[in-house]
Amino acid sequence: MKPMGTIPAEFSHAPLRIAGETAEHWADVAGDTPLFVYDFGVVAARIARFRAAFSGVDLHYAIKANPFGPLLDAIAPLVDGLDVASGGEVTWATRRKTPNAISFAGPGKRDDELELAIRAGITINLESAREAERALRIGERTGFTPRLAIRVNPELELRGSGMRMGGRASPFGIDADQAAAVARQVIDTGANWRGLHIYAGSQALGGLAIIEAQRATLHLAGDLAEAIGVTPPLVNLGGGFGIPYFPGEQPLDEMAIGNALAEALDDRAHSLENTRFAIELGRWLVGECGVYLTRIVDRKESRGETFLVTDGGMNHQLAASGNLGTVVKRNYPVAIASAEADAATETVSVVGPLCTPLDRLADRVTLPVAAVGDLVAVFMAGAYGLSASPTAFLGHPAPCELLVGITGS
Ligand SMILES: Cc1ncc(COP(=O)(O)O)c(C=O)c1O
Repeated sequence: MKPMGTIPAEFSHAPLRIAGETAEHWADVAGDTPLFVYDFGVVAARIARFRAAFSGVDLHYAIKANPFGPLLDAIAPLVDGLDVASGGEVTWATRRKTPNAISFAGPGKRDDELELAIRAGITINLESAREAERALRIGERTGFTPRLAIRVNPELELRGSGMRMGGRASPFGIDADQAAAVARQVIDTGANWRGLHIYAGSQALGGLAIIEAQRATLHLAGDLAEAIGVTPPLVNLGGGFGIPYFPGEQPLDEMAIGNALAEALDDRAHSLENTRFAIELGRWLVGECGVYLTRIVDRKESRGETFLVTDGGMNHQLAASGNLGTVVKRNYPVAIASAEADAATETVSVVGPLCTPLDRLADRVTLPVAAVGDLVAVFMAGAYGLSASPTAFLGHPAPCELLVGITGS
C-alpha cells in the first residue's frame, strides 16, 4: 500500500459533494464521463485570502494554469491582471480584461504574436535582447508604441520549487547583468516603459524560501531601477506559490509571506518609491478547485493485485499519472465519490484506458471497495489538468468541463 496526498478540505467529506451536489449529479449535468468539475467557490476564497494577506499588491492570474473560458470569465473581474504566454492566450485575455492589465511573457514569441500584442496594447515581458529589437521594429512598422517590460533572469533561485526558473542559464528572461542595458535601449527608442518581471520558480511549498526570494527580487529590482535611471511603473515579483499534491506536503501560510513582503516593501529602495508591485499566480488560485471524475468500467484481479479501470486517465489528467514534471510517481489524492465514510476498504490501483503502463492515476492506494459503474474522483485537478494533457492520444473523446459554485449555477 502507498500513501496518497490529502484531499482538499472543501471536498473531504464522504460521500463526495462538489458545490453541494453529488458527483453523479455533475456527471448527469455533463451528460457523460469523464469530466472536470471546477468549484468557483474555492477560487473566490483563494482570491479573498490573497487580498487579506497582500494588501496593496496586485494579483495577476497566469492563464496557463487553467484557460477554461467560463473560469476566465469568472476570475477576470476579481484579479488585477492576466498573464499570458502565447498569441492564443492574448486573444482569450483581451476578451476579458483591458489591455493595460494584460502582460505577455514566454520565450519564442513569433513576430505575429508580438504584433498582435503590440496592436492590442498589452505589455510584453521581453525575454531577450533580440526580442526587444524585434518588438521595437514592429512598433516602428505598425505605428503602435509598444508597451515593454524586461523579464529578468535573476541570480537568485526559489529554493525547493518544483520548477526553478532563475539562478542558472535559461531561455527565460534577460540575464540580470544585461537587463539594465536592454531597458535603456527600450526607453531611449521611445517605447512605453512598463517595468520589470522577475520570476524565479513555480510550485514552492517553503514559505521561508518564498520570503527570501521576494526579498532578493526586491533588492534586484531596486538595483536595476537605479541603474536604468527611470522608475519602473510595475515590478512583477513572480509567484511560485505551491499547493500540497502529495503525502506529507503542507499548504503555504500566505499570511506569513504577506507580512514579510509588507516589511520588505516598507524598506524598499528609493528607486522603487513610486512603483506598483504584482504577484502572478496560477495553481495556488485554481489548482484545488478542480475534481476530475471518471467512471470505473472494469475491475480486475491480476497476480494478487486489484485494478479499477476507468474511462479516463492520463489523456485528460496527465499530471496525476506522474508524467508531467515529476521524477518519482507519487499519488494525488483520490476517492470513490459515492462511498460513505465508514465503508470497507481495499488496496487498489486506478488505471486509465490507454495502452500504456504510464496510464495509472493511483498506485496501490487504500480506497473504499468500489464496483464497476462507480465514479473515481481525482483531486487537485484545477491547474495543468486538461490543457496540459495529451488529449488526442488514442482518440478518446474530450471530457466535459463544468464551472460550478457561482451564484446561479
Ligand atoms: C512566467 C510564469 N508565470 C506564472 C506561472 C504560473 O505558475 P504557477 O501555476 O505554478 O503559479 C509560470 C509557470 O510556469 C510561469 O512560467
